[in-house]
Amino acid sequence: MSWRSASSLAWLRGLSGIREKEPLASRTSFGIGGPADFFLELGRIEGIEKVLDGCRERAIPYFLLGAGTNLLIADAGIEGLVVRVVTREYHVEGTRLRADAGLKMMRLARIAADAGLRGFEFGIGVPGTVGGAVYQNAGCWGKELREVLVEACGFVPGAGRQRWSPADLRLGYRTSALREGALKGALVVEATIQLQRGDGEEAKSLMAKLTRERNETQPIKTKNCGSVFKNPAGDSAGRLVQAAGLKGMREGAAVVSAMHGNFIVNEGGATAADVARLIERARVEVRRRFNIDLEPEVEQVGRWP
Ligand code: EPU
Repeated sequence: MSWRSASSLAWLRGLSGIREKEPLASRTSFGIGGPADFFLELGRIEGIEKVLDGCRERAIPYFLLGAGTNLLIADAGIEGLVVRVVTREYHVEGTRLRADAGLKMMRLARIAADAGLRGFEFGIGVPGTVGGAVYQNAGCWGKELREVLVEACGFVPGAGRQRWSPADLRLGYRTSALREGALKGALVVEATIQLQRGDGEEAKSLMAKLTRERNETQPIKTKNCGSVFKNPAGDSAGRLVQAAGLKGMREGAAVVSAMHGNFIVNEGGATAADVARLIERARVEVRRRFNIDLEPEVEQVGRWP
């Protein structure tokens, strides 16, 4: 049965701040994607929880959006309600940092350094929010969130607030129980990380050095979604794409970056279909040449043909 009953539509339209047929492309780092049927941006966690419970009661599909990185939204958009989580508070508690899900990882890395805490410098290379980072155990320079995460607080529609240990979250390489397991559809409310006391200035100069390196090796100033593929065990997706001669391969305005083979750049006006075709062509070619199956890291969401 469709979720579009008259009473559900009336409920959605009655939500304060709701927008209909809201374009999402500009809310993603790729600059790609069709509209949300309904869209809501919320900065108070209680408000988000109420809306998610309401969706569950009415069987309205919902999608939780953070900074829109690592995401390929279909050209036909997203069914139901898209909630953009913009909660941004944080607390420094000794050597622990507790951060709201909507806070950007890069901001949290600077907050840690300002507080004289070490061990989170890798956060400066992670696009996206804290919530998104828990969702996919984000990482950079060989480090992952699970190395510092002590606990996350979440919300399961219909079941309320929960505390999740790293074991509950089943954090794996770019995945978790939120992305592919028992906690699918749950909301990350906040995360707590454990760091070490140290020299904040040293942390800042290390982050500056890492950012310079990233600038030289990744097309970070372009419209992209971050790494397109996961790295296969013991190898690099970027290296494989390059070795297969696929750099510069194009579909419409989507092109495999000449700088880094694991990036697809939207040169302006690329469609989700262009990107999906490019991903498929790269997979087919890498499989044919090296017998390796590249698994996408980017998450395809919405109404695909
Ligand atoms: N390489 C090539 N050609 C390329 C790209 C890379 O030969 O076009 C080689 C490099 O020379 C290097 C190796 O492949 O020897 C690995 O490349 P790189 O150091 O750039 O790292 P990566 O494995 O491609 C990973 C993360 C990135 C993260 C960097 C930071 C994954 C899928 N990617 O990339 O994460 O920024 O390490 O070192 O784990 C992201 O997740 O969105 C992301 C960008």
